[in-house]
Amino acid sequence: TSVLDFVPNIIVEGGEENAEQAEDVKRSQFPDGFLFGVATSSYQVEGAVHEDGRSLSNWDVFAHTKGNIENGDNADIADDHYHHYLEDIEIMHSLGVDSYRFSVSWERILPRGKFGDVNPAGILFYNKIIDNLLLRGIEPFLTIHHHDLPQELMDRYGGWLSPLIQEDFVRLAEACFKHFGDRVRYWITINEPNLVSEFAYERGKYPPARCSPPFGNCSAGNSDVEPLIVMHHMLLAHAKAVKLYREQFQAKQGGTIGLVVSTHMYEPLTDDELDREAASRGLAFYVGWSFDPVVFGDYPPEMRRYHGSELPTFTSDERQLMRDSTDFLGLNHYVTLYAKDCIHSSCTCFVPSCFPGGDRAIRGFVSTTGFRDGVAIGEPTGNPRFFVVPRGMEEAVDYIKERYHNKPMFITENGYSSPKGQQEQVDDLQHDIKRVAYHKSYLSALARAIRNGADVRGYFIWSLIDNFEWTDGYDIKFGLYAVDRVTMDRIPKSSAKWYRDFLHNISFNH
Ligand code: NOJ
Repeated sequence: TSVLDFVPNIIVEGGEENAEQAEDVKRSQFPDGFLFGVATSSYQVEGAVHEDGRSLSNWDVFAHTKGNIENGDNADIADDHYHHYLEDIEIMHSLGVDSYRFSVSWERILPRGKFGDVNPAGILFYNKIIDNLLLRGIEPFLTIHHHDLPQELMDRYGGWLSPLIQEDFVRLAEACFKHFGDRVRYWITINEPNLVSEFAYERGKYPPARCSPPFGNCSAGNSDVEPLIVMHHMLLAHAKAVKLYREQFQAKQGGTIGLVVSTHMYEPLTDDELDREAASRGLAFYVGWSFDPVVFGDYPPEMRRYHGSELPTFTSDERQLMRDSTDFLGLNHYVTLYAKDCIHSSCTCFVPSCFPGGDRAIRGFVSTTGFRDGVAIGEPTGNPRFFVVPRGMEEAVDYIKERYHNKPMFITENGYSSPKGQQEQVDDLQHDIKRVAYHKSYLSALARAIRNGADVRGYFIWSLIDNFEWTDGYDIKFGLYAVDRVTMDRIPKSSAKWYRDFLHNISFNH
């Protein structure tokens, strides 16, 4: 379904304001040393799933189960980046990016986790990427875990639901620090633990597709508590890897390490005090759930209040381990939505494209939606939950600046997915003017936040190339380059030309 199936004529809030914000933005508006980059993740681009000792991942198994991925797509070939990485580094170089954010495949490096050895072919592949990036003056920004993990770890102990995975994750991190740390200076432990907990253990949308009513068609689960447990294990695994890095590698290697969180912005649906509280509670639950522990050492008080004993607790040693366990806060920002209180009023799916109410575990009885009185919060995109709301970037950065005392931040992802449909796809290939406007307006909003004192140190466009968008398969496209799915050619879109000009400080005329 496209968003147009929900609302035939979408009226957009603040259309004029958005157009104004799309005014020219210049690289020179950003601080010296600010990193501009592009991002991908291993599973979404690499392909070559059976090559050079790689084991099968949770996502391979999931994608090959009928009905899980749009159009029956899978990532066996993806963008064949495994064989095209040199070309991909060339196109990054031609854009003039400072940095490339990518992830390593756990299945290539430790195909059997702690039940087997490090796979030299996996190390070799990422060494080639890192060396070739550095040859072209591009700083590697390496994510250790971005959704995919060896299926064997799911089969043996249930993946992130088990505390056993912490040791496995630390082994993976150690292999990365040991083999790549002499050249990699920017590290991300885990990408979007909040989204994984939600999509894999509350909504049943990502492997292992666990959930319980009212969500989805899931095999099994307990969506009230499992997302909380999964997050707990991810946070402890993060902090243990950071401890190892700091104790054994950081002084010698001089890098920096952080956590990346899916960072939505919420605005109250109405002026009502209850909705205002809902917006702030929603933020504490969605963003604070990951960032509070790694900065302050514990979950947000708002979460403790609503969950009581269902929310796992950190021992005092663990609190110490967690506290200040990140050098920077990584924000993946795409989403601004209205928030509505569901504690005092009952929330069913009250407007198109909302998540059902009673969304207790991870949103704290807050229902969110892109529509108010039938008017969209911003222009719709290819993802029915993503709208173009540039001010949300500034608001999210400001919120995190305040809550975490201006700890250094990176925008580790921000991107525009073209609306689906044949015509749009043709337009997108040749002339993705909407993506250009999107990045200009979000960068303008970011520049404002920086001018107002936010310590943001980099911005990464998702994504370099169109790729495997998880359960949406190849239909949803975020790339600056299209990928011809037959020839695997990388085809620059207008946005690639715009980014190149922006990075070279040239005004862009399309
Ligand atoms: C966040 C995820 O990290 C990435 O894998 C995904 O493709 C983008 N968002 C776009 O949805």
